[in-house]
Amino acid sequence: MHFELSEEHLAVQQAARDFAQTELLPGVIERDTKQEFPAEQIKKMGELGFMGMMVSPQYGGGGMDAISYVLAMEEISKIDASASVCMSVNNSLVCWGIEEYGNEAQKQTYLVPLATGQAIGAFLLSEPEAGSDATSQRTTAIDMGDHYILNGTKNWITNGNSASYYLVIAQTDIEKKHKGINAFIVEKSWEGVVVGKKEDKLGIRGSDTHSIMFQDVKVPKENRIGEDGFGFTFAMKVLSGGRIGIAAQALGIASGAYELSLKYSKERKAFGKEIMHHQAIAFKLADMATEIEAARLLCLKSAWLKDQHLNYDRASSMAKLFASEVAMKTTVEAVQIHGGYGYVKEYHVERLMRDAKITQIYEGTSEVQRVVISRDVLR
Ligand code: CAA
Repeated sequence: MHFELSEEHLAVQQAARDFAQTELLPGVIERDTKQEFPAEQIKKMGELGFMGMMVSPQYGGGGMDAISYVLAMEEISKIDASASVCMSVNNSLVCWGIEEYGNEAQKQTYLVPLATGQAIGAFLLSEPEAGSDATSQRTTAIDMGDHYILNGTKNWITNGNSASYYLVIAQTDIEKKHKGINAFIVEKSWEGVVVGKKEDKLGIRGSDTHSIMFQDVKVPKENRIGEDGFGFTFAMKVLSGGRIGIAAQALGIASGAYELSLKYSKERKAFGKEIMHHQAIAFKLADMATEIEAARLLCLKSAWLKDQHLNYDRASSMAKLFASEVAMKTTVEAVQIHGGYGYVKEYHVERLMRDAKITQIYEGTSEVQRVVISRDVLR
């Protein structure tokens, strides 16, 4: 066992760090205030290969491993978690889902533009009454022979308006419960697809979160993913990998807040010395550094398991559970270290604190992660 990153990993990490500093940092406060989606920045991320990192080069992707993805997610999230959630959903839910389970025609039509940054994808599972209880899908897709007719409403959809392609989970046979669920690729431009209201959120305010309505949308049968009834298993498998991305996002939010706190503690003086020389601050920094390192190891371990094609369901839930709690705790402490400055936008940590909260909620709440982990522990 060794803990060193390869030359390639270090290069990816540095590229993501440079991009975040030069392209995302300017304007991040304004985008948060105005709830403005980082459209130009996401376009550049696509051109640089950050939107389809793990996709095979044959479909226009970067052909990188999940470890590289975690490293890039951490760096982007340190600066702009609104950009990184768009990146995470596109990479690990939409691109990975289509590459792993889609057929060749679906890959050519949809994966290539998604992996090359020409299009953005979204994952539509949550509903007004189906959040953690994901089997309770009310959106229906009725089999009409060569197509399905899709009806229903999806809520809290990341990339809701900016995406061109949606991965939609819907009930095709209510009698069969979760075995009667399917996943479909739906184009936003199709008749009957209605983008609903944009959510006014506490954090990740630059991300584009909408409800999406389907009103008698005709979905060709060839747009179903996998065999009939595969949709719930598909959603669970995709989310298991997605949790690595969100864990890395939480890690980035925490390490961003820590780095700002360390810098501030070296500059700010109180009672005749830099505040880092007060043990009250030094111990906070020690705890932050320790917990962030533990979160990073869990993220990298789950990514490594994925790269080795080993089961990573428990590991990704552990990484997400722990990293999101570290993100919340670290960002609250970062605001405290910054004192009054921490409570105003200019110093970034208040935004990171607001952004941290969502990592305990989306792609499965902390409680859902405990369900996944405890079932595995008790098995
Ligand atoms: N891989 C394969 N199959 C799986 C699986 C996995 N990881 N997890 C569950 N399944 C299968 C089970 O084996 C079972 O199938 P069988 O009956 O054939 O054995 C079936 O799925 C149902 O599983 P459970 O009985 O465990 O289902 P449950 O109702 O008890 O729910 C749960 C389990 C873990 C709570 C699950 O519903 C869940 O993960 N909920 C959270 C959903 C979620 O993460 N939503 C996020 C929305 S997307 C998002 O946030 C994106 C964004 O915008 C950022």
